[in-house]
Amino acid sequence: MKPILVSGIQTSGRLHLGNYLGALKNFVDLQNSGKYDCYFFLADLHSLTEAFNPEDKHKQVIELAADFLAAGLDPKKSVIFQQSQVPAHTELGWIFNTITPFGELNRMTQFKEKSDAQKENANVGLLTYPTLMAADILLYDAKFVPVGDDQKQHLELTRTIARKFNAKFGETFTEPQPLFTAATRVMNLGEPERKMSKSRSHPQNVIFVDDSPEEISAKIKSAVTDSGSEVKYDIKNKPAISNLLTIYSALSGEAIPKLEKYFTGKKYSEFKVKLAELISDYFADYRKKKKLLLAKPQTLITTLKSGSAKAAKVADKKIHEVKKIIGLAI
Ligand code: ADP
Ligand code: TRP
Repeated sequence: MKPILVSGIQTSGRLHLGNYLGALKNFVDLQNSGKYDCYFFLADLHSLTEAFNPEDKHKQVIELAADFLAAGLDPKKSVIFQQSQVPAHTELGWIFNTITPFGELNRMTQFKEKSDAQKENANVGLLTYPTLMAADILLYDAKFVPVGDDQKQHLELTRTIARKFNAKFGETFTEPQPLFTAATRVMNLGEPERKMSKSRSHPQNVIFVDDSPEEISAKIKSAVTDSGSEVKYDIKNKPAISNLLTIYSALSGEAIPKLEKYFTGKKYSEFKVKLAELISDYFADYRKKKKLLLAKPQTLITTLKSGSAKAAKVADKKIHEVKKIIGLAI
């Protein structure tokens, strides 16, 4: 049997370059390596922790399904599903709530940041977000979880929960490991000290994967740069150019030193024109595919339903086993 790999992305807005380079691109590469049994899902329950209205939520679910497929995820190779359609996730999430000390959740960086940023909606879901995430992963006995750097702490907590449950009730769960990419933390184009984010960055500072070539060009042109004029990777003194170089390298497959050499003596503006072209060309096929997929939402819904049924088979078996172990099954 191949090792199991699980990951999800929230249905909370348009997919951006950070999501793509930190997570989705890696999902596709890992799927196509043929080395893993892959499960990829739309984390729609997690997304409810941010303000939403039901109409938009429905659209976001369909859109993210289109993003998954346009990027190259293939329902013939991976199980592609919707979290909320597999009830075992919330059931196991609840059980994990009961073995997780409040203090462990309370100290999570994402919880602190999000509950601070949305004071008017500092809901309990933000606090218990990591226990649901642990359930998403442990239900499938995942060995690997491809995510961006910002999820490292949640993965660590998932491992702690697995260990704790196993020690208390007997060997039940596998401890998963995160898989990171070289561009595991893509920064905001206007504030290179902050990560690019769906919900918390100004749209002008975020490259969405389905932005038009004109939008990409305008955003890259107005991206902040550092003092000096050299196109050089130096995360401390040149965080903005380093971020743009990381993006360039991840999309072109060229190593950063090679890019620095190529751009020696060239101005920031020339580098930016090339980068904008690279991003536009890279996503040309993606934009076309996504448009075609969105023209047939029913097909996307059928794909999700069929994936969710497959995931539920595995998850139901595991939650039944868990209930038995803790004495709930009668
Ligand atoms: P967001 O943080 O934009 O709301 P999600 O929470 O749904 O997006 O993240 C989905 C995946 O994308 C996760 O694996 C996350 O680590 C990754 N990710 C999010 N933002 C970035 C970023 N700026 N750079 C790299 N990876 C990121
Ligand atoms: N928490 C992840 C994020 O914000 C999304 C997510 C939810 C996830 N459940 C998961 C990622 C399970 C990997 C595995 O990016």
